[in-house]
Amino acid sequence: MAHESTYKPNTGIERWLDERLPLPRAMHDQFVDFPTPRNLNYLWTFGGILTFCLVVQIMTGIVLAMHYVPHESMAFDSVEHIMRNVNWGWLLRYTHAVGASMFFIAVYIHMLRGLYYGSYKAPREVLWILGVIILLVMIATAFMGYSLPWGQMSFWAVTVITNLFSSLDAIIPGLGTTLVEWIWGGFSVGGPTLNRLFSLHYLLPFVLVGLVLLHIWALHVPGNNNPTGIDIKTKDDAVPFHPYYTVKDGFALSVFLLLFAAFVFYAPNYLGHADNYIRANPLQTPPHIVPEWYFLPFYAILRAIPDKLMGVVALFASIGVLALIPWLDTSRVRSTRYRPLYKPFFYLFVFTCLALGYLGAQAAEGWYLFFARIFTAYYFIHLLIVMPVVGLIETPKQTPGSITDDVLGKAGGGGPTPEAAPAAPEKR
Ligand code: HEM
Repeated sequence: MAHESTYKPNTGIERWLDERLPLPRAMHDQFVDFPTPRNLNYLWTFGGILTFCLVVQIMTGIVLAMHYVPHESMAFDSVEHIMRNVNWGWLLRYTHAVGASMFFIAVYIHMLRGLYYGSYKAPREVLWILGVIILLVMIATAFMGYSLPWGQMSFWAVTVITNLFSSLDAIIPGLGTTLVEWIWGGFSVGGPTLNRLFSLHYLLPFVLVGLVLLHIWALHVPGNNNPTGIDIKTKDDAVPFHPYYTVKDGFALSVFLLLFAAFVFYAPNYLGHADNYIRANPLQTPPHIVPEWYFLPFYAILRAIPDKLMGVVALFASIGVLALIPWLDTSRVRSTRYRPLYKPFFYLFVFTCLALGYLGAQAAEGWYLFFARIFTAYYFIHLLIVMPVVGLIETPKQTPGSITDDVLGKAGGGGPTPEAAPAAPEKR
C-alpha cells in the first residue's frame, strides 16, 4: 500500500545511507509503520510463523549438510552419525524433520484462512498465485529432503514418484521411460539419483526465499485483507504494524514453538514412518509405501484414478486448479462470514481434504478406495462448480460499513448488500 514514509534518519550514517540505499527506510515503511487492518485475528499470524519455519529449515539444513554424505552407501550411516556422534546432531536433525511437518501444518492453515476470507480475490490474485507456486516448491523440497536418509521409505517413495513420469509412455511410447531414466541418472533409482536430489534439496529453499519476498511484496501493494473482507477506508481502520502485530505475531509464534518443541523433545518420530530406520533395500519393497502425512490427500487423489496417466494428471490438477480460484469464485463479497450459502460448502471442503488425508494412508482397495473416489470428485466439484455457482446464486449478508464499525459492533452500517457493498471492488 502506498503510504507516506514516516522514516526519519537520526544519525549522520543513517542520512548518508538513506541517500544511497534507503533499505532502513523500506524496512521501516514496510514492517514498522505499515498500515494494517485493526481487526486481524490469530489466523493472520501464520505468515510470520511460516517465515520463521523457512529460516529454521535453512539454518538447521545448512549445518546438517556439513555432516551428511550424499552417497548411496554412506547416506544412511551419515544420518546415524549425526544422531549419535555429532554434538547436538540429534537436535538439529529432529528440528529439521519435525520442522518440515510444522511448516506444512502452518501452510495449510494459512491457505484455508485465505480461502475462508477470500484473500485471493482482486486485487490479491498475484499474491495468491505466488502462494500456489510456493506450495509446489515446498512440496518438491520436502519430497527431496525425505529421500536423503536413504531408508526404505526414502528409497521407495523416490521409486514410486519418479515412476509417475513413465505414464507419459501412454502418450508417446518411450518418452516416459527416457525421461525417468534421465531423472534417475541410470536404469534404476541409485547413487546418481540421490546426489541430484541432495543438490536440488539444498537449492530450492533459496528459491523459496525469493518467492516469499515476491509474495510479501505482492501483499504490501494492496495491503492485508481482513476478516470482514472490506477495504481500509479511514485512518481509524488501520494500526501501524509495529507494535500491534509484532506483539501479536510474537505471541502466536511462542505458542507455535511450544507445539514444535513438544514434538521435537517428546515425540520426534511420531510424524514419521518407522520403516525409514531400515536401510534402503532395492530388492525388498515395503508392504505399504506411504508418503509423509502432508502429502496424503494428494496421494489419495493419485490412487483414486484407475488409469496411471489420468491419476498423475489429477494429482497435478489438484494443485494447479488452486491457481484459478481467484476467477472461479464469483461472489461479490470476499469473506465467507457474510456468505450463508457458501459457508457449509467451505466446511465440507475442509472435511474433504481431511478425509482424503485419512484415506491416503489406507490401502487403495474396497470401501477406502470407494470413498477416496467420492472425495476426489468433491474436491474438484467444489472448486470448479460449487465456487462459481454458489457465488452467482447467493445473496450475501449485509457487510458492516467499515472495519471500525465492525470492531465497535455497529454491524450493518454499510448499506444494503450486495449493490452498495464495498466489499469486493472487482467486477464479476
Ligand atoms: C513459505 C511459505 C509462505 C510464507 C513464508 C508466506 C508468508 C506470508 C506472509 C508473511 C503473509 C502476511 C501475513 C499473513 O497474512 O499471514 C502472507 C499473506 C498471504 N499469503 Fe502467504 N506465505 C506462504 C505460503 C502461502 C501459500 C502456499 C498461499 C496460498 C496458496 C499463501 C497465500 C497468502 C495470501 C492470500 C495472503 C494474504 C492474506 C490476507 O491479507 O488476507 N501463502 N503470506
